[in-house]
Amino acid sequence: IPSKITKIACIGAGYVGGPTMSVIAQQCPHIQVTVVDLNVQRIAAWNDPDLSKLPVYEPGLDEVVGEARGRNLFFSTDVDKAIHEAQMIFMAVNTPTKTFGVGRGMAADLKYVELCARQIARVADEDKIIVEKSTLPVRTAESIKTILESETKGIKFKVLSNPEFLAEGTAIEDLYKSDRVLIGGDEDEDGQIAIQALVDVYANWIPREKIITTRLWSSELSKLTANAFLAQRISSINSISALCEQTGADVDEVARAIGMDTRIGSKFLKSSVGFGGSCFQKDILNLVYLCHHFNLPEVANYWEQVVILNDYQKHRFAKRIIDKLFNTVSGKKITFLGWAFKKDTNDTRESAAIYVADELLQDRAEIHIFDPKVSEEQVHSDLVYLQKHRRSQATAYEYEEITSEEIKKLVVVHTDPYSAMEKAHAIAVLTEWDEFKTYDWQKVYDTMLKPAFVFDGRNILDRTKLTEIGFNLHSIGKG
Ligand code: UDX
Ligand code: UDX
Ligand code: ADP
Repeated sequence: IPSKITKIACIGAGYVGGPTMSVIAQQCPHIQVTVVDLNVQRIAAWNDPDLSKLPVYEPGLDEVVGEARGRNLFFSTDVDKAIHEAQMIFMAVNTPTKTFGVGRGMAADLKYVELCARQIARVADEDKIIVEKSTLPVRTAESIKTILESETKGIKFKVLSNPEFLAEGTAIEDLYKSDRVLIGGDEDEDGQIAIQALVDVYANWIPREKIITTRLWSSELSKLTANAFLAQRISSINSISALCEQTGADVDEVARAIGMDTRIGSKFLKSSVGFGGSCFQKDILNLVYLCHHFNLPEVANYWEQVVILNDYQKHRFAKRIIDKLFNTVSGKKITFLGWAFKKDTNDTRESAAIYVADELLQDRAEIHIFDPKVSEEQVHSDLVYLQKHRRSQATAYEYEEITSEEIKKLVVVHTDPYSAMEKAHAIAVLTEWDEFKTYDWQKVYDTMLKPAFVFDGRNILDRTKLTEIGFNLHSIGKG
């Protein structure tokens, strides 16, 4: 098993693989890092001389890529060559929730991981260390091992689990100063050599005491558990936001008061229209599926409630818009500020905006959207995708399928925020982009239909100022 790493390959040039490998390359100039992907367009974008065209938008990423690309960081579609040359191969392919068959709507779809393992098994002709980067269900390493070992060419593979904890929008910062780096591996001698090889890579910039090593399964389960706990905090505060709205308390005051208890902590208590992103829901559903598999229905139901509450929070927001607009939004112009699942990213996977839009579209609203980083093509494809792949468990609202033609007709994406808001019946803030706070709200008010409704799904707008201007403002968790 290789103990000294000079060449790394990473399969998957997405939100995880791209930024992580860029930072490894930047911090380890003595290691050659090659990121490969089947998606030709994506690789071309990573290689674009214009750094504003990178396929992943992350603050600071352009500088890191600019520094390392061509020196010891390469992006390529030649997967076989990269596998062949590297001593260590990261798997950072996507693992979406299955949309069909056994475990539909719950289990992780491992087809990309499996394909990737088969390709490594076929191409490799020397011992290699395989690192799981994607969020994978516990014991996937076991399946990867089985596939790798099925090609008996007399070479050895060691599988490590090295879950990624970066959050999108702050990926570079998170990679520079990780709270911890977690590496799981086998307890045998080769396993320990492989773990040490990866520790040595991170030790180039992460203090040694922040790099923790565990057995394989603990590492895999820690990733699911971390995301489940983080999401649970949001669902917990969001559940209280509903109570605040009924009783006249203010959820931000409650969050501040409880967050000062060091046992609770102040982070991740921001009430919102609901969490999104590629990880939280997927990982919890995965955890739920695992618990059912191991016959632990009480544990499964406990965690599933975090997702159910999140569905409810998105539904509550959409329903409030309809209720306040005199019980119908049919034919009304509703403007969304933001479509990404959080600020400072162009990623829209599982964004609350998609579900809120869908529910308003059920009533045939006209939705106008402005997001600084999301294109019309992406918005339409998110809505079309939802029509075909609804979780059967999601029962927050009655729905029927909306055709792509209707979506194209009813959903308009703007490149200018003021044109998006002109003559609108209501504005809804779905993402907490900083620039939304700085708009000329008097000007917006003057061009809107009256009463001018604003639904602030992120509690970022200045309540006193907007109310003074004359807006009819509704925030989350403010009675
Ligand atoms: C998350 C984890 O934070 C990260 O450690 C893991 O590696 C991947 O999943 P990410 O999904 O990129 O990262 O972003 P995160 O900042 O966790 O936000 C997730 C969602 O929760 C967003 O929609 C965000 O707006 C929402 N959120 C977050 C809240 O509504 N309130 C909060 O207090 C925090
Ligand atoms: C609690 C709150 O901590 C305190 O702020 C409030 O004012 C009153 O209620 P108390 O019930 O006295 O205080 O003790 P606490 O330390 O919170 O423990 C409560 C129970 O939880 C105990 O049975 C304890 O053994 C258990 N516990 C606590 C755990 O099982 N695991 C933990 O990590 C912490
Ligand atoms: P994540 O957020 O986990 O990074 P993304 O979808 O952004 O997920 O990125 C995963 C990438 O993996 C995609 O660009 C996809 O094309 C790529 N991919 C999936 N399977 C393979 C494979 N077998 N070989 C190479 N690339 C793959």
